[in-house]
Amino acid sequence: MAGKGFTVKKDWDNPREHQMPPETRVPASVRIGPVLVSPATVLAPMAGVTDTVFRRFIRHASLFSSADSTALETPGIVPPEIDSVVTNEQSGCGLLMTEFTSADGLSRMRETKRRRYLTFYDDEHPIGAQLFGSNPQTLAEAARIVQDTGFDTVDLNLGCPAKRVVGCNGGSGLLRDLPKIAEIFRTVRLAVTIPFTVKFRMGWNDSQIVCVELARIAESEGLNGVALHARTREQGYSGQARWEWIAAVKQATALPVIGNGDIRTPEDAAAMVAQTACDAVMIGRAAAANPWIFRQIAQYTSTGSYDLPTIEDRHRMIRSYFEMLLAEADATKDLPRDARLGETAGKMKQFATWFTHGVPGGAKLRGAIYHSRTGVEVLEKVNAFFSSNSFSGAPEPEEASYPEGSLVCD
Ligand SMILES: Cc1cc2nc3c(=O)[nH]c(=O)nc-3n(C[C@H](O)[C@H](O)[C@H](O)COP(=O)(O)O)c2cc1C
Repeated sequence: MAGKGFTVKKDWDNPREHQMPPETRVPASVRIGPVLVSPATVLAPMAGVTDTVFRRFIRHASLFSSADSTALETPGIVPPEIDSVVTNEQSGCGLLMTEFTSADGLSRMRETKRRRYLTFYDDEHPIGAQLFGSNPQTLAEAARIVQDTGFDTVDLNLGCPAKRVVGCNGGSGLLRDLPKIAEIFRTVRLAVTIPFTVKFRMGWNDSQIVCVELARIAESEGLNGVALHARTREQGYSGQARWEWIAAVKQATALPVIGNGDIRTPEDAAAMVAQTACDAVMIGRAAAANPWIFRQIAQYTSTGSYDLPTIEDRHRMIRSYFEMLLAEADATKDLPRDARLGETAGKMKQFATWFTHGVPGGAKLRGAIYHSRTGVEVLEKVNAFFSSNSFSGAPEPEEASYPEGSLVCD
């Protein structure tokens, strides 16, 4: 679904280092319409990344048990509520989002292909599907399909800067036409009863910042929440996300506001809440580089500290994600087997570049994976690497690294 013409940043420009704000935590929950998101953390939609396998992988990597955690004893800190519900173990990721999907494509696709784009499993609830497009009727039709498929929420993408999307007036292209956005909001709102949200950038460029006005329009047209990636379209991924605009949006609307941009650690997440009063945080790149981030946030919220992954954790994580990819390739029957396995091996190579950062000797493993021809061979290389103690030397810097070209949205 990703268009060509815009490459995401490989890492963060001048990441801020935050201390944990003494009295602020990521909220225990937020309601998007009737949907309870608990804790108030959201996996950002990422084209080429947040497919059903990755989403389930994140949900499970985020499982958090407070059975053995000591309650916060710092005076003045509100006791954690994140696992006050039914069980004592829950995912630290409150809401999953799909990759963006073309409304136009969706409304024209055959049923089988449609299912492929909108596949999700029971353990993914609550889950939102994101659409992009510019025609109000087509978006409304696609939103109905999303609702009928069983998604909990539907989201409109007004942030994608990819030329192919902007060229059709979709994504961030629409930020230059607020009346059109209002018309889309109205038409989609009438078409579905599930919560309807919008994810946008601040505006097209610094002289056309529209996020505050846009949030007000969303509220008056009956949407249920807004998510702001606090950069302009022209900014791409450069510089720092300007969280002050998340605060401005929060002040302008009574809708739940989801803050997004440059959260890399639990400290960042809490700092964003402290600085903006946003109701929830959304995390993109950091989830791909560090799939434990939601769990770490939950643990930090509950105990004031969080665990860092060991080498064994990393091995288990890579192995289980790759096994899930292979199982999904086996289960999905709508493509020829060779094509499915080829796609899977490609995905493994793509993810290996992220997951092996932070692993000593990771470059050696990446080389071995790169030269593998099948998914099974990739998995063998991974297991051999970890069991032969090939990892040595200093850990490589922890940075998100995205494959060039394939992932180009927002
Ligand atoms: C590879 C990649 C693909 C993305 N695809 C989408 C998308 O489909 N829809 C969307 O709204 N944003 C998309 N984004 C933007 C993210 O959702 C998020 O807004 C952005 O990465 C900033 O958050 P972060 O600093 O936590 O990564 C994508 C980002 C990346 C890195």
